[in-house]
Amino acid sequence: MTDLPPTLAQYETRAEQALPPAIAAYFLRGAGAGHTMQRNRDDLNAVQIVPSVLRDLRGGHTRVQLLGRTLAHPILVAPMAYQTLLHPQGEAGTAAAATAQEAGMVLSAQAAQPMAEVRAAGDACRWFQLYWMGSRAATLTLASRAAQAGFEALVLTVDAPVSGIRDAEIETRFQLPDGLSAVNLHDLPSPSFAPLTETESALFDRVAHVLPRWEDIAWLCENAPLPVLLKGILTPQDARNAIQAGAAGVIVSNHGGRVLDGAPSAISALPSVVRAAGGHPVLMDGGLRRGADVFRALALGASAVLVGRPVAHGLAVAGAQGVSHVLRLLRDELEITMALTGCARLDQITAQTVRAPFMSS
Ligand SMILES: Cc1cc2nc3c(=O)[nH]c(=O)nc-3n(C[C@H](O)[C@H](O)[C@H](O)COP(=O)(O)O)c2cc1C
Repeated sequence: MTDLPPTLAQYETRAEQALPPAIAAYFLRGAGAGHTMQRNRDDLNAVQIVPSVLRDLRGGHTRVQLLGRTLAHPILVAPMAYQTLLHPQGEAGTAAAATAQEAGMVLSAQAAQPMAEVRAAGDACRWFQLYWMGSRAATLTLASRAAQAGFEALVLTVDAPVSGIRDAEIETRFQLPDGLSAVNLHDLPSPSFAPLTETESALFDRVAHVLPRWEDIAWLCENAPLPVLLKGILTPQDARNAIQAGAAGVIVSNHGGRVLDGAPSAISALPSVVRAAGGHPVLMDGGLRRGADVFRALALGASAVLVGRPVAHGLAVAGAQGVSHVLRLLRDELEITMALTGCARLDQITAQTVRAPFMSS
């Protein structure tokens, strides 16, 4: 039996020590100089949690309803690409661990393992994340395959139409090893590009015409066989556009600070997005490292949260067993935070249970 780290912080330290520098750069660092990634943490820490004593906690639980299902608790595993880089068990190991801890899981389109295999490893993996595939037809093909594989919702990530500039990856020369690829995308058509003329911009002339616009999102929401959540929403206007386009909900996220360095923290963007979403589910991720952070996000209006890097730490340190332990620690910490604030149920975690500098923004 592996000697498991006793705290979430030690998982992070141990993962950092265990991973080769280029892989650590890919999983653990952010875009640019890492300011947004750090801001996710700083702004969460700035949310004070207000204790409340001697309250009745009998019959307490952490159950939550989401897209027609009851989850045992509001912590989901965020989509993360290429998890076999962290441990040979990869996404299947994460799915087994999420299932053991009754956590929802979102499988990345850039998973290293076939979606059917991951589904078979753990029933908790019920949502499939995808990017726009360059055309309506290709995007719908992928969405339909996910539905056939038994997924129940699609998470369309809209905040990374182009890759962010990740200094740490450039400096460590990160590249995918031979034999590792996004296996679920292999046979999908990808856009072909004519050679650029001297005056053309690679980004604006070559790429921009295959990027989706709001009318494409509305088309997908209308035609996809599953409900679609949009991931990567940070402003009330984008939230309103998403709901108007037919999204079943939104995920407030800056991609864990991996795309636009300088973007606001996810937690600071959350309250205004919740107000704009008009009662639709709003999930949030970015910087959550403790159960208390999950509490903070719920207090500012999140219906549920996703965690990325803490799961990567668990997988790197001890495979599925490590992920399971990380999720257990997060659950336990959330429950303890609830007890100390007098909350027996998630609906009691309101804005009154915290003090946040950006609550009215
Ligand atoms: C190594 C890595 C790979 C990721 N891959 C994806 C991906 O394929 N699709 C996606 O929508 N988000 C991806 N994300 C973003 C996560 O889903 C999530 O938004 C982010 O990790 C949350 O922040 P946290 O890591 O601080 O919890 C990735 C994040 C990391 C760290």
